Amino acid sequence: MKSFDVVVIGGGPGGYIAAIRAAQLGFSTACIDEGRGADGKPALGGTCTNVGCIPSKALLQSSENYEQAGHHFAEHGVKVKGLELDLAQMLKRKDKVVKSNNDGIVYLFKKNKIAFFHGRGSFVKGNEIAVSAPANETLAAKHVIIATGSNPRALPGAQFDEKLILSNTGALAIPDVPKRLGVIGAGVIGLEMGSVWRRLGSEVTILEALPAFLGAADEQVAKEAAKVFAKQGLKIELGVKITQIDKKKGVVIQYTADDSSSKKFECDRLVVSIGRVPNTEGLNAAAVGLKLDERGFIAADENCRTSLPNVWAIGDVVRGPMLAHKAEEEGVCVAERIAGQKPHLDFNTVPWVIYTTPEIAWVGKTEQQLKSEGVGYRAGVFPFSANARARALGDTTGFVKVIANTKTDEILGVHIMGPFASELIAEAVVAMEFRGSAEDIGMICHAHPSLSEALKDAALGVDKRSLNI
Ligand code: FAD
Ligand code: NAI
Repeated sequence: MKSFDVVVIGGGPGGYIAAIRAAQLGFSTACIDEGRGADGKPALGGTCTNVGCIPSKALLQSSENYEQAGHHFAEHGVKVKGLELDLAQMLKRKDKVVKSNNDGIVYLFKKNKIAFFHGRGSFVKGNEIAVSAPANETLAAKHVIIATGSNPRALPGAQFDEKLILSNTGALAIPDVPKRLGVIGAGVIGLEMGSVWRRLGSEVTILEALPAFLGAADEQVAKEAAKVFAKQGLKIELGVKITQIDKKKGVVIQYTADDSSSKKFECDRLVVSIGRVPNTEGLNAAAVGLKLDERGFIAADENCRTSLPNVWAIGDVVRGPMLAHKAEEEGVCVAERIAGQKPHLDFNTVPWVIYTTPEIAWVGKTEQQLKSEGVGYRAGVFPFSANARARALGDTTGFVKVIANTKTDEILGVHIMGPFASELIAEAVVAMEFRGSAEDIGMICHAHPSLSEALKDAALGVDKRSLNI
């Protein structure tokens, strides 16, 4: 049996970052991961690196390049003749991007002297973990961090086969552009993957159970986004109830529409993206008394302590947003708590990003949340159509909205739809972490011309003094 101060089960963004921070803090650290890449070889990085954040962003970039070359280069005076899609190359590039991230983690493990064991980790006792083949080891640990992530939720009666009925894994590797692609669930994956395949030529139809589009986003953003996506050609039907799914040559979906009529829809392939479920399979949790909550997540307090002493859990396998950066921050927090420090993660300042075009990003509260909480607020909105850099880019869709407390002017939420929203949101996160006011952002010098000026102008707009509109 090998002994370590810290053993991490799971090598996704939660697990590998926890292991690195633990090693930095001087603990002898091991990480167990059973993940394999498309080539069948061990591939550190979890869902995020292998079949999530990274490959989806690679395909979003490539497909956006194709769309730009086909539809938007001409207005810049760049004529493209004989434009052709080489999907095999696009998928190959995506795999290469993934591999370089896998390799990056292997490098970081070596650099930080983290022992890696490939195989499935399961509890023998609270502090003893058996690792299956190929590692075939038993590890003893002073502290165990569980970071086993999540799996895609399947629709009853429509198990994933990754050929006709696809999870995120299959949706990232379709070998030919389907003529008609169906998607169930207009959440983050549905919109991102729907965008990729629409840009590459599929007719994409998304069926969503809820009557409201993007319920977690600010209503003004959701409304505007629905219009833009419809204009791009994404067909989104809300308020549906799926009644039957049959596999024929393609997939036949029967459903009840929002107006209670029965409808049938046929597609060549179907992506099911209706959320994810925590992955506790194989941990042997029940036998060692590791408690799960009523939804199957590992029960954890705000500091990620589980029901077992010195056993912690982080990332998708515990409550909170299923986001890579949330998992990473929890990993750092737990390693630092083990070292006796007192870090804290505030979910209210965890940013959300949807990498569609336009990108959608937000942090903090939406207008509808503040209304329901009875909090007084003022909002400043600034459109990218009035921003000089956005005009130069030729990308003026969307706006920035800053919401601040009426009495104190403290920023309560920032909502961005538009170019590079994923990058712009970082300034809002910093401001909110420092409990900054809208006036603070309005008083800071922003480079000209830059998209970030739209954030400044929206902040000034809270006090009705935007300069450029
Ligand atoms: P995971 O990344 O799921 O890693 C868990 C690891 O543990 C896996 O390698 C698994 O094989 C391993 N494992 C499980 N059980 C065991 C065991 N018993 N023994 C050994 N190993 C085990 N989030 C973002 O923030 N930004 C994005 O752009 C984004 N895009 C996404 C796109 C898609 C298509 C998907 C599906 C998700 C996306 N996410 C994104 C979400 C993000 O991937 C997850 O929130 C993140 O991966 C969670 O990290 P984790 O470390 O908790 O778990
Ligand atoms: P999601 O929770 O974002 O969206 C699922 C959607 O499916 C919801 O709108 C839900 O109402 C709908 N739905 C549920 N059951 C349904 C049914 N039976 N019929 C029709 N619609 C149904 O989940 P998604 O898209 O699967 O992604 C999982 C998670 O992965 C996300 O919540 C997010 O945390 C993470 N992710 C993050 C990304 C990012 O940060 N850019 C990108 C992709 C995923």
